[in-house]
Amino acid sequence: MAPATLHADVLDASMDAVITVDSDGLILRWNAAAVTMFGYTADEVLGHELGATIVPEDLRASHRVGLARFAAGAPAEIVGGRTETVGQRSNGSLFPVELTITRVSEGDSVVFVGFLRDITERQLMLAELRDSRARLMTVSDDTRRRVERDLHDGAQQQLVALAISLSLARQQVEADPTQASATLDQSVAILTSAIDELRDLARGVHSGILTGRGLSAAITHLARRSPIDVTVEVESVGRLPTLVETSVYYLVAEALTNATKYGAKRVWIDLRLDRGDGAGQRLVATITDDGPGGADPSKGTGLAGMTERLHALGGTVEIESGAGIGTKLSIDLPVSLSVVPAPSAALTA
Ligand SMILES: Nc1ncnc2c1ncn2[C@@H]1O[C@H](COP(=O)(O)OP(=O)(O)O)[C@@H](O)[C@H]1O
Ligand SMILES: [Mg+2]
Repeated sequence: MAPATLHADVLDASMDAVITVDSDGLILRWNAAAVTMFGYTADEVLGHELGATIVPEDLRASHRVGLARFAAGAPAEIVGGRTETVGQRSNGSLFPVELTITRVSEGDSVVFVGFLRDITERQLMLAELRDSRARLMTVSDDTRRRVERDLHDGAQQQLVALAISLSLARQQVEADPTQASATLDQSVAILTSAIDELRDLARGVHSGILTGRGLSAAITHLARRSPIDVTVEVESVGRLPTLVETSVYYLVAEALTNATKYGAKRVWIDLRLDRGDGAGQRLVATITDDGPGGADPSKGTGLAGMTERLHALGGTVEIESGAGIGTKLSIDLPVSLSVVPAPSAALTA
């Protein structure tokens, strides 16, 4: 095989667009990936100026100045390094590219070889990752605020009441021991209630069983301690990524609290792993109650926060709620969190 053919074959096998220009910026070589990426055939561009083809209008002047300066011997920042810029397709659409350039001697002259990669997908994924991180941070801030509010409105108020009750008992202890004894009994009741309150709160924030034994055990435990009747059909799902376990646990806890708080008598929890149809394993769960319906995430913080949390992990929560049908939350969540949700639309097309 002649070296020139070999050379062309190698370049055509590259997944990067590989474009060679001379020191005037005229295109000398244009590989197969460049055809696909920019929409021009080699015949359409060979001998044409690079700046007038794939360089977007507003970057042309600086491209030409840079090339001229560089051809005259000045060092160019982008040669040898990696840079991100914008490319233009034959149909005029723009897209982000990653670019490296090398300077190569060919006979007496110098040519420049550019390697260009379309980074549209990567940028979309990065944007999605950044968004989902921001959403998760919002959720965790909201959770902190909620815990603070619960502590303030609950246990803290009871401890204040306990302090008042104890100092009252102290005043009464000599003058009226019987009354003091009654006040002490009352203090014990307040303390017991504060302990219950803290225990409930801790369970909502974090579950030792969840950390130790995983989601199935933690949900079963949650159901057993619920003041209303809960029927659990929970498959043993084994251990899952911590974020999956905690997010689903919080959501089930919230749904149970809501059911109790808003008048349901019974709850059914169903949880299983869907082995997937090639898209990877998914955790699928429903929490259904026989309450009055009317669940609306825009009317509170619980459902909205939990839903956002699952969305950030690439999952979905569907809420069906109404008079006569009660409330049903359906959760669907990918188990493998290394998969970032695929970008749904191209940046530019
Ligand atoms: N299981 C349910 N049955 C009836 N109404 C519900 C149920 N869950 C939630 N809701 C309604 O939807 C609203 C929002 O719920 P949520 O986001 O959990 O907020 P919160 O419980 O803090 O009020 C609640 O205020 C309530 O009116
Ligand atoms: Mg709630």
